[in-house]
Amino acid sequence: MAAPPRLIALDGPSAAGKGTLARRLAAHYGLAHLDTGALYRAVGRRVLREGRDPADAAYAAQVASDLQPVDLEDPELRSEATSQAASMVAAIPAVRANLLAWQRRFAAQPPGGKPGAVLDGRDIGTVICPDAEVKLFVTASLQARAERRFRELQAAGADPIRRAVLDEMAARDRRDSERAAAPLVPAPGAFVLDTSELDADAVFDRVVAYINSRISPRRA
Ligand code: CDP
Repeated sequence: MAAPPRLIALDGPSAAGKGTLARRLAAHYGLAHLDTGALYRAVGRRVLREGRDPADAAYAAQVASDLQPVDLEDPELRSEATSQAASMVAAIPAVRANLLAWQRRFAAQPPGGKPGAVLDGRDIGTVICPDAEVKLFVTASLQARAERRFRELQAAGADPIRRAVLDEMAARDRRDSERAAAPLVPAPGAFVLDTSELDADAVFDRVVAYINSRISPRRA
């Protein structure tokens, strides 16, 4: 097999299937994985925990510059309140700037002696790693993504309201796409995959076929 890709940049909106795909790609190619959404979630969560307003730019930027490993272990990291706070702090340029170096270091020197890394988020191919060898953008219709999130919440024992899940996701999509700082858009040259009608195995198979076609030595 050809050498694994050094860097895979994986972007897309909420519940498009990035997390599952990133973990599977990392395992398949022996790469480290960074879920960059967890960094924004950790900032948003700490701001809420400390009773502050996620729109307070100076405070959120200070939290981002002082993020601790324990912040990433917070049990409320994936709650809906944290999701909304994460997308609010993520619109603050100073928050993004304070998380940039850490993400680039992970990409340049992946932990555990791994030969490369998969980073998933919203701006990996556009801002964090614009030189990544492989850039992917996975997306799906709002309805398909909201339905997945609804089922995930049910499976986790919650009692979600379908309409509320969809409305909250639409609000976050809007904030992530319309913000001035690193808005959610496919990077130039990214492989764009709509997963609305695909299950996780089909997504993985298509992406691996694409990556292998890029890294395989070309025949003369
Ligand atoms: O899990 P889900 O896809 O719903 O969200 P996430 O990837 O954990 O990201 C949470 C929020 O962080 C997003 O709504 C974005 O506002 C923000 N984010 C970002 O701005 N840039 C990234 N690279 C990753 C996440």
